Amino acid sequence: MIENELKKRNLPDLFYIDGKQIKTKEEWEKIGKEYWRNIIQKEGYGFYPPIVKPEICTKINRVDFAGKATWEEVYFTFNVDGKTHTVPTNLIYPKNKKNIPFFIYVNFRPDIPDRLLPVEEIIDNGFGIFSVCHNDISTDNGDFTNGLAGLFQEGERKECDCGKIVYWSYMASRMMDYLQTLEQVDKTRIGISGHSRLGKTALLTAAFDERFAFTCPNNSGCSGVALSRGCCEKGEKVADICKTFPYWFCTNYHKYADNEQSLPFDQHCLVALVAPRLVYVGGALEDVWADNDSQFLSCVEASKVWKMYGKDGLICPDRLPVCGDVFTEGEVGFHLRAGTHYQSREDWNVYMSALKKKL
Ligand code: GCU
Repeated sequence: MIENELKKRNLPDLFYIDGKQIKTKEEWEKIGKEYWRNIIQKEGYGFYPPIVKPEICTKINRVDFAGKATWEEVYFTFNVDGKTHTVPTNLIYPKNKKNIPFFIYVNFRPDIPDRLLPVEEIIDNGFGIFSVCHNDISTDNGDFTNGLAGLFQEGERKECDCGKIVYWSYMASRMMDYLQTLEQVDKTRIGISGHSRLGKTALLTAAFDERFAFTCPNNSGCSGVALSRGCCEKGEKVADICKTFPYWFCTNYHKYADNEQSLPFDQHCLVALVAPRLVYVGGALEDVWADNDSQFLSCVEASKVWKMYGKDGLICPDRLPVCGDVFTEGEVGFHLRAGTHYQSREDWNVYMSALKKKL
């Protein structure tokens, strides 16, 4: 049944590259990854800016969550050719613990806690949180003169110059750099989550930065986990997203509005780049705009790469998902909860309990 659904989508073959068939994980590592990363940047999100080492300054926040946690405010100051920008972030972790697994979280607001980020529950589960507000990286609009975009973008955007999702993702990787320097952090268990446009960001980040051991893109939908080809009638299309949020992507992507069939990649290629690491995808029944079937099928197709590594990928029955499904046995997970577009406690609990078993 799932095979039939996938056939209808007519997806680009993950393993057919430049007229050659990739057959082993070594070939995937050497040829496949670079090929897809290049295409996805060139035609979708734009190329990442060069890595710049920020200056870091920290300050202890007095709030300590009933004595259970340490909260540090961490300020990243970037300097590019004399232009500077400072991004404030929040680092919160269980007190006096070692080998702490961490979530990097790109959020809509800087608040701690936040309605999408239940900090105390996350700490109580043994995880640290390192969060940042997307607008503090560069504003969520078409202005490329502010924040990190203002440091890197020169003049008008050219067709492969990156959109805002890449800037948000770039910052998540700089936060990863910083976590590498902290002794209380378990460097093998750092991952990223985000909701919606920031779920797209969380997926992209783990696909491009292999230090991320896991990613939990929540309700990421169109240009996130969901396949663009064959999107359901009420789901968001490439044309919709390019019309309302053209600045999230590179301008090349706009060519594929109402023309998904000619996109040289689809979103399963992005999911596949996370292999053999962990991806847990969350969908919500009433979030039709994010097209849950297309998110699910993307996970199934991408799982072929996990299989190449001798792993399972998504373990699920041979049918489309229904409300209440929680498939988290494999390295690729998918759950579909009741309710609307949101990153709820329920989503966090699914991610954290799966991660605690798998990491
Ligand atoms: C809009 C957009 C989605 C996005 C969402 C969000 O609905 O169309 O693609 O995921 O905003 O980020 O909240």
